[in-house]
Amino acid sequence: MNAENVMKEIVALPSDWHGAGSLKAGVLKAIASHAEGLDLQLSAETGSGKSSLLFSHLSKRHLVFAMDDGNGSVRRVQESPLLKPGVVEFIEGPTQKTVPAYSFGPPLQMIMLDGPHGFPFPVLEYYSFYPHLASGGVLIVDDIDIPSIYDMYQFLKKDAMFDLLEVVHTTAFFRRTDAPVFDPLADGWWLQGYNRRKKIVDWNPLSVATALVPRSIRKKLLEKMRK
Ligand SMILES: C[S@@+](CC[C@H](N)C(=O)[O-])C[C@H]1O[C@@H](n2cnc3c(N)ncnc32)[C@H](O)[C@@H]1O
Repeated sequence: MNAENVMKEIVALPSDWHGAGSLKAGVLKAIASHAEGLDLQLSAETGSGKSSLLFSHLSKRHLVFAMDDGNGSVRRVQESPLLKPGVVEFIEGPTQKTVPAYSFGPPLQMIMLDGPHGFPFPVLEYYSFYPHLASGGVLIVDDIDIPSIYDMYQFLKKDAMFDLLEVVHTTAFFRRTDAPVFDPLADGWWLQGYNRRKKIVDWNPLSVATALVPRSIRKKLLEKMRK
């Protein structure tokens, strides 16, 4: 079956094909279009469904971290004639355990987060995945209309490692830049774009000044005061 027909058949599956909520046609098409320039050797997603069928045709090797949870999202994919054989490895179980325990090898060119949506689960997944995303690769974050996932979306928009490519419905597509991998075992919150300005929650003058005056200027002022 050629790629165009596969897409047509996946899109034609009913929205309740499994019981966990499927991606819209526009999002599936956007995944295929972003994959076009990437020569996908290795990709991964959390959650399972129509996207897994699609990735089996886009990627040489695709990892699906998901649990079926009685909603049919894994079983339906595994039993579907639209699943390209020999491409997908299913790592079944809660991603809270399976993703951190997985030994990643070569870099991934595409990663989609669409498994558990409660805070902090997508963030935990992000932590385990981000060091393994290749420069130029694409990170897809679904359901950014959920407030805690919206916060992550806002964070990523300001992060040096990512450029926002587009938002389709409620799915965000980011390109991994050439910025070095943010050290996953250090701190460095002050180096992150989203954290550049502190929030004012403590209205004493020193806290307010700290929040309003950029760190670089504060450092210079302190140096002058010490002289
Ligand atoms: C919104 S659905 C994914 C839809 C899929 N991307 C599609 O295109 O049809 C969410 C998926 O995450 C799975 N899931 C929910 N909580 C999970 C958890 N803690 N660990 C692993 N998978 C989980 C669900 O069973 C389901 O497969």
